[in-house]
Amino acid sequence: MDNAPSDPRAGLAPERALVPRHVAIVMDGNGRWARKRFMPRVYGHKVGVDALVRIVQSCADRGIEHLSVFAFSSENWKRPSDEVSGLMSLVLVAVSKYLAKLAGDGVRIRIVGDRSIVSDKLRAAWQEAEEATAHNTRITLSVAFNYGGRWDVVQACRKIVEAGTPADQIDEALLASHMAMSYAPDPDLFIRTGGEIRISNFMLWQTAYSELYFTHCLWPDFGNTELDAALAAYARRDRRFGEVRDSEPMLAAALPADS
Ligand code: FPP
Repeated sequence: MDNAPSDPRAGLAPERALVPRHVAIVMDGNGRWARKRFMPRVYGHKVGVDALVRIVQSCADRGIEHLSVFAFSSENWKRPSDEVSGLMSLVLVAVSKYLAKLAGDGVRIRIVGDRSIVSDKLRAAWQEAEEATAHNTRITLSVAFNYGGRWDVVQACRKIVEAGTPADQIDEALLASHMAMSYAPDPDLFIRTGGEIRISNFMLWQTAYSELYFTHCLWPDFGNTELDAALAAYARRDRRFGEVRDSEPMLAAALPADS
């Protein structure tokens, strides 16, 4: 049985096919960025939010339809309490500082993750961000907060079981339709900044066929140059989705070599 998705770019104009529809990012390195400047780790996260706001715009300008970022993992509660509370406060500050701008720029904001244990204030801020941008269509920014890829699989299974679905009706498509980001295509490109080479429980189900890109650049320093390097590397990848193909890697000959 062939469960692999077919290439979602098949049939697109070549120049469009080179641009990922969905980019997922693990924004790592904020703490080290701050420490290098003798600043508290939370300052790195604060500058990280500014970097994120710039990158959303850059992704939209390049025709990317979905940007999903890992802002707070299910495991991040284990961090020192001042960092955890700093991150929570930062979200509230970020919503009041940037919501109007993002809404005006055509960004739709969606929050994914377990909201049951975040504060009422934070839940209200998320709701405000989602409602204020619900009509926007230029790019969707999905912010994964109190999220884990394993949590997502478990919550999808729970919903299916709660609906009384018979076991023989459960397949990949049904499970995918219950995942938190079922409104988005699977990520084409998965970027992790900060030099670590792992997925760390971000979108485990959805990244089965994503192209992975790792960079030493620390997240607050990630700008257009780094984004374009990742996109150029992506455009050179030969995406096969489990098939054998005789063709050359997509337009590889037309592109400059990786720098
Ligand atoms: C990893 O860097 C980063 C995080 C755990 C948080 C990322 C969050 C933001 C950029 C803020 C997002 C907020 C909103 C409102 C979307 P790290 O702390 O693990 O860095 P290190 O590896 O250098 O220690």
